[in-house]
Amino acid sequence: MKKPWSGRFKEKTAKTLEEFSQSISFDQRLWREDIEGSRAHAKMLKEVGLISNEDLKKILKGLDEIEREIEEGKFVFKEELEDIHMNIEKALIEKTGSAGARLHTARSRNDQVATDLRLFLRKRIEELNNMLCNLEKVLLEIAKKHMDTIMPGYTHLQKAQPVLLAHHLLAYAWMFERDRERLKETFRRTNQSPLGACAIAGTTLPIDREFTAKELGFSSVIPNSMDAVSDRDFVCDVLYCGAMIMMHLSRLAEEIILWSTDEFKFIELPDRYSTGSSMMPQKKNPDPAELIRGKTGRVYGNLVCLLTTLKALPLTYNRDMQEDKECVFDTIDTVSISLKLITEMLPEIKFNREKMKESAEKGFTTATDLAEYLVKKGIPFREAHEITGKIVLYCIEKGKNLNELSLKEFKKFSNLIENDIYKILNAKGSLEEKKSFGSTSKEMVKKQINLLKKALKK
Ligand code: ARG
Repeated sequence: MKKPWSGRFKEKTAKTLEEFSQSISFDQRLWREDIEGSRAHAKMLKEVGLISNEDLKKILKGLDEIEREIEEGKFVFKEELEDIHMNIEKALIEKTGSAGARLHTARSRNDQVATDLRLFLRKRIEELNNMLCNLEKVLLEIAKKHMDTIMPGYTHLQKAQPVLLAHHLLAYAWMFERDRERLKETFRRTNQSPLGACAIAGTTLPIDREFTAKELGFSSVIPNSMDAVSDRDFVCDVLYCGAMIMMHLSRLAEEIILWSTDEFKFIELPDRYSTGSSMMPQKKNPDPAELIRGKTGRVYGNLVCLLTTLKALPLTYNRDMQEDKECVFDTIDTVSISLKLITEMLPEIKFNREKMKESAEKGFTTATDLAEYLVKKGIPFREAHEITGKIVLYCIEKGKNLNELSLKEFKKFSNLIENDIYKILNAKGSLEEKKSFGSTSKEMVKKQINLLKKALKK
């Protein structure tokens, strides 16, 4: 088949090169956006008098037909036509003759591919944003059901202080809320039109870039034609957003894995979202969470992959940039299915309230409350810390919990300790005493929930 550039060439392209350089096997995903872009470009060409109204009509009709053929799976994508842009253009010319042959006036595949990718990612960003909203809402619902479920909070994976399960889960909701902010910013930068930059330097023809930008819903026109065709920052932004979402998901996944172990027993995973072993009959494995954790590596890799591809690329378009697509498609697909899975699975997890509470009571989790009790009695914090440390050591030696010491025993460490100490030496008392904004008391968690709800309405 004749290439669009055949005029300059005496030989046919080598078969191996065709196989090596084709992108149609993956960039056919851009077909819808390629057609959208062509429609807008054709309308603009007619508007400024570069093509006639009859030609425009033929082009639009031809594009509609191609759209239908692709939707119905009847369109044949050809490797020798390299990419989605040439496949569609060629089909249009076959259908409409000279009208179709005018479509590429004042357009290059360089501004075309940048336009297609921006249109495509704009939609995907919105979808990811919606999925994050759904996940946050699910976390909120579970949190509301667990405003009285107490668990140990950890630092260094060592028991630290009692917290509400609601508080713990909402920490994840805030991560996903930040992911939404990042996507919003990415959308803003993606939503600018490169169309009309042509190959590199613009055109001598009287095109109207504002027209196509408006037609395609872009918020503005990229002011430098060289930047317009060589910029892939917006793709990196999407890859970074994806990497951050996966990082957050992998942390949640890790806790699901940990909490479902026999050692923790904080949760029971739903059978529907667990897998078995081919040899050990007793096993119930948290494979979905492990896969989310595992896939995070590949999504990070995609970011590094594109950054490395772009590193030191001279202006402007270089064919290297074709490598952006597989990375970004893979990231979008992986992040989407991971978000979908976790959002479905979370509401079906059973939390073992008793086990969590029991665990929160052990391990001297109220020691900090004891130190703060002494501070309230006027003891400098460093001293209070020292006294409490000694009490804990005493407990370890005696094999007792803090609340199992008698008042007489407490008095040996500080005369200021009174009977009211026992109120705070249990997980519930410790929680209720929390006063600071953003802390884990029920009252503060309620405030937090209202703030998150407000953020979700944006
Ligand atoms: N398939 C190419 C890509 O994805 C389209 C642009 C080709 N431009 C060119 N001058 N060869 O980047």
